[in-house]
Parts: sequence; C-alpha cells; structure tokens
Amino acid sequence: MNLVVVGLQWGDEGKGKLVDVLSQYFDIVVRFQGGSNAGHTVKTGDETFKLRILPTGAVRGKTVVIGNGVVIDPKVLAEETHILRQRGKDFELRISDRAHIITPYQIALDRLREKQKGNQKVGTTKRGIGPTYSDKHARLGVRVCDFYQNTRNRQWELMESKSIDRLKYLHNEEPTPEMMSAFSDYKVLMEGMSEYVCSCSEYLLDAIEDGKRILFEGAQGALLDIDHGTYPFVTSSNCISSAAATGSGVPPSKIRDVLGVTKTYTTRVGTGPFPTELQDDIGRKLQKRGNEYGTVTGRPRRCGWLDLVALRYTVRLNGAQYIAVTKADVLSGIEELDVCVAYEIDGSETYTLPSCNDSYDRLSPVYKTLRGWPEPKGGDWSEMIDDGYENLPGELRQYLEQAASYCGTEVGIVSLGPDRDDTIMTTAFEKAVKHV
Ligand code: IMP
Repeated sequence: MNLVVVGLQWGDEGKGKLVDVLSQYFDIVVRFQGGSNAGHTVKTGDETFKLRILPTGAVRGKTVVIGNGVVIDPKVLAEETHILRQRGKDFELRISDRAHIITPYQIALDRLREKQKGNQKVGTTKRGIGPTYSDKHARLGVRVCDFYQNTRNRQWELMESKSIDRLKYLHNEEPTPEMMSAFSDYKVLMEGMSEYVCSCSEYLLDAIEDGKRILFEGAQGALLDIDHGTYPFVTSSNCISSAAATGSGVPPSKIRDVLGVTKTYTTRVGTGPFPTELQDDIGRKLQKRGNEYGTVTGRPRRCGWLDLVALRYTVRLNGAQYIAVTKADVLSGIEELDVCVAYEIDGSETYTLPSCNDSYDRLSPVYKTLRGWPEPKGGDWSEMIDDGYENLPGELRQYLEQAASYCGTEVGIVSLGPDRDDTIMTTAFEKAVKHV
C-alpha cells in the first residue's frame, strides 16, 4: 500500500502530526509539492519539531524524498537538515535532480508583488513560492541539476537577467549583494548535498519494485490548490492527491489510497473567502484554545465552523477513502455546534463550492446544529484515548460520523491533542494501513 495524506481545508489541518504517526508503517516518506511555505509540526513527549521542507518521516528516521514537484530553498534545506541531525535524527535523504530552486530574486519578487496588489494581496508566506512556480512554467526556472555543472549555466543566466529586469522596471529596485552572490552561495550549498541528489521517479519506482511502502506527504490544502481552490487566494501548486503522481514521478496506478485531513472546525491564514468564518467570541475562543497561529509566519489564523459543503468538495476531489479529524479536544465543551450543510446564493441553495469569487460576497451558509461533546475532567483525554474509538463520547462520534457520511467517506483517525500519542485510529483504518 502506498498512501497519500492531503489537507482538505486551507492548510494547517495537522498533516505533519498524522504523517509522523503513520510513517511508522512506511519505509519512505515523500514531499511532492510546495516548499518552505509549509510548516509541519511533530510533538513527541518533551520534544517539538517544526519542518518546512524536509518530509516529516525524518523525525522517525525514515528515508525521506523531496520530489520534483517541490520548490527548494537551499538555505532552508541545509539548515533544517543540519538542525535535525544535530538533534540526533538519523535519516536518509534523497532530493530530486528535477526539483526547482527558490532564489533570493524570487523571494524579493514575492514581497514586491504582494505590495503592488495592495488590499487585493493574497497574504502569501513571502517565501518565493509563487514567483518560483511561475518561472518554472515560463521555462525560466533553475533546477537542482543545474548546480552540478561547471559554471552558471544558461538557465541561471536567463532567470537572473529576467529577474533583474522585473526588479528594475516593474518594481524600481536594484538587485542586492545577496542576490548577486546567490549562484556561488547556492553552488556551495548544493555541492554539500550532491550525494543525496537522484532521479526521484527512478528511485521511488525501484523502491516500489523492491516491496517498499511509500507515504506521500501533502502540504497546504485542497482549498489552496492552484486549480481547484479559492483562486486567486491560493498557493501556486496543486496540493491535491493527484499531484503526488506528477510531483514524484510515481504513476497513479501505483498510488491507490488517500487519507484526507480536516480539523473539527475550519481555519484560514491569509486573505480570501471563508464562508463559515466566526468573528465573535467562539471564533476567538477557537483561535486561543487551538493556538491558531501560523507555523511559518506567526500570523493569527481566522477561525470558523466546519464547512461540510467545502469538505465534501475536497473529499471527492482527492478521492479520500478515509478522513483524519484533528483538534477534537479544542472543540469540546461547547454545547451546540453549527456545521454548514449548504450555501444560499441569490435565494437558492447550492451544495458545491462556487468557482467565482464574486459569488462569495453574495453567499450565506446554511447551518445544521449538532450537539457538542464534554471535555473530560482536567482536560485529560488519555484514558479515553486508551479506551479506543468506540468509547469516545457519543456526541463526538456522531459529529464525526455525520460529517463523514455527508462527504461520502469514513472516519479513519481522530486526533485529540498535539502529541503523537494523542491519536485514535478506527479499527477499519488501522487494519487497512497495516495490512493492505
Ligand atoms: P504562498 O504559498 O506563500 O504563495 O501563499 C499563498 C496562500 O497560501 C496564502 O494565503 C498563504 O497563507 C497560504 N499558505 C501557503 N502555505 C500554507 C500552509 O502551509 N498552511 C496554510 N496556509 C498556507
């Protein structure tokens, strides 16, 4: 079994924790899109690891692969690898020779483009993600393999001259010394990584032939997907399950299973539509209790009720046979919970996500109220976790099962805290992940 784990909302669903939990059953963990805009957190007892570019499996000492669909900031990669090794983590690393490189030019362009957009800005993480993916598609990009030639090759020259033009003529800025020395600085960094570079597709296909099990770790979430998300308030990559194939070079026929991750409520960081957003005490309570602040940027996340219309859309889009539902502890102790089951637009109800942004201005969510579940004494869930899924409070199981049934999927995992041990798998999912 090879499994893809993807976010079903606007990112920050807790994929890092779940990939960490699941990676014990896999040999290799692969990132296939995005870059250091991601912030995947793993908590094990007293230790916390925050990863931006390395696949989360590194924490468990798995072989980790950065696929061709990822955009790599060499500085972040070198730093993260060094820190993790210093903290005693021994893992094998493979980097695709075809992955694209984020340079200081693209980081500057990300900042300048956002400034230019004024109040229409996307609210990017300013990590150079958008400009790097646009250069990739404009065939101006620089790839990992480009550093293993003797001089600045044609691709670097092309990217640099176009970037300088854009800086000067569109933004009235001169390149900084950091930009001018980027090629030589990055060449040194990349030379230090040469032993890890490979053809990702060949490597993974050989591993599959040898019977190895692969876990694909998605970043961001389906509602931030460049094609299927709330465009233009999205990231610049495809973050749905099918991107695991293009972003790693492993064909869909070899990746069968998909686990989608959602919170029990909804959050969003950055600008863009959010139909169930709560700008009241409950929204503020969720933000505080759920520690809803961006891992990469520290920005507060907007919070709201669970949106089943959006969730059904992303479950179907990803083909998620199971869902993992996180932060069930955060939503506990609230007597009545609203879940959005339709959108009303211009007097009629719709059950899917509008494509056009204008529709969101005219949309109001239609809610169904469900009963909330109690918080255990002292907020300690450990006994309940030991007792397993069947012994969770009835209201919580009903909430999860009604959500799953509305979306046409099944509950696979419930997360009741940030630690890897605060996790319950349903019997059916555990059996599937261990034995298929
Ligand atoms: P970019 O990916 O930095 O270009 O940002 C585009 C949009 O995606 C912004 O709204 C970001 O806040 C959002 N975004 C990017 N990465 C993440 C993530 O890992 N979690 C949540 N939001 C993200």
